[in-house]
Amino acid sequence: MSETSKMNEQQKIADKQNTKFRGIKAFIPTSALNAMRNARANKSLKNAPRLAFNSQNLLKLGDIQLDKWLNNSDCAQNWSEDQKNIAKILGHQDKYGGVNPGDRQAIYTLINTLKPENILEIGTHIGASTLYFASVIKRNGVGKLTTVDILDVNAPDAPWKGLCLPASPKDNLKTIDCDKNVEFIQSNSKDFLEQAKQKFDFIFLDGDHGSKTVYQEVSLALNLLRPNGILLLHDYYPDKRPLFPDGHIIPGPYSAIKRICEENTDIKPYPLGELPWETKQNVNTTSLAILTRLN
Ligand SMILES: C[S@@+](CC[C@H](N)C(=O)[O-])C[C@H]1O[C@@H](n2cnc3c(N)ncnc32)[C@H](O)[C@@H]1O
Repeated sequence: MSETSKMNEQQKIADKQNTKFRGIKAFIPTSALNAMRNARANKSLKNAPRLAFNSQNLLKLGDIQLDKWLNNSDCAQNWSEDQKNIAKILGHQDKYGGVNPGDRQAIYTLINTLKPENILEIGTHIGASTLYFASVIKRNGVGKLTTVDILDVNAPDAPWKGLCLPASPKDNLKTIDCDKNVEFIQSNSKDFLEQAKQKFDFIFLDGDHGSKTVYQEVSLALNLLRPNGILLLHDYYPDKRPLFPDGHIIPGPYSAIKRICEENTDIKPYPLGELPWETKQNVNTTSLAILTRLN
């Protein structure tokens, strides 16, 4: 048998096994599938080699002034003006996915208050958070955003198309004239974080939520932070407890941060908890958390 026909045979066997497994999966309850996925993820995090976590540029826990940052009346005015513009693209609700409406407001408000110069976003997707970063950068008159995704998020067949958004993330920014200070990069987060030459004041991690990836991303991201930098995590569910009425959780970021904190006792997450406005499902709870240092 030639090499090519041998490979074709092997491919056929693999396809048959995959189809069989998909068939079996249809009969396994979601809770059991999730438990299997979680067990696999825990094993993969446990087996990941220990990495260095350079916490010196993280903002100190004692320097967080969340109430003051979020309850800023100038910002509330800016928000209502910019939100009207962005709603022309995304609507007012969680119609297309991406970070939820309340988290968008939290991101906007933090950037409007803290005015970081250089911002990095990992996980562009449909560009929901990107639109808010970009609008507030324009509003502040200071700042640049680099947004990274493993996919070409602006391609004609990218998720924006499947989710029926009016246009690609880049074109949506152009529509509201805030594309000037935004750079889109297609890359695996780890490759980008390893090779980046720039440093950032604010890094938002919302890419792959697998625990091993988040563990690796945080290690690399810390090396790119400027002094008193903010590392903001999305989908951080403290103690892996549900935060929203639907009971759903994403365990990866919490598991990763738990291991990081066990290995580095000077690092501590600061979950943003309850926001002054609704996030989704009629509650004000957020899964946003800032990674801080104690000393
Ligand atoms: C939850 S979505 C981000 C949502 C986005 N912030 C928004 O508000 O629209 C996660 C994104 O991370 C991307 N992603 C997943 N794994 C990645 C990786 N290893 N490196 C870079 N991007 C990744 C996915 O392609 C997806 O677009």
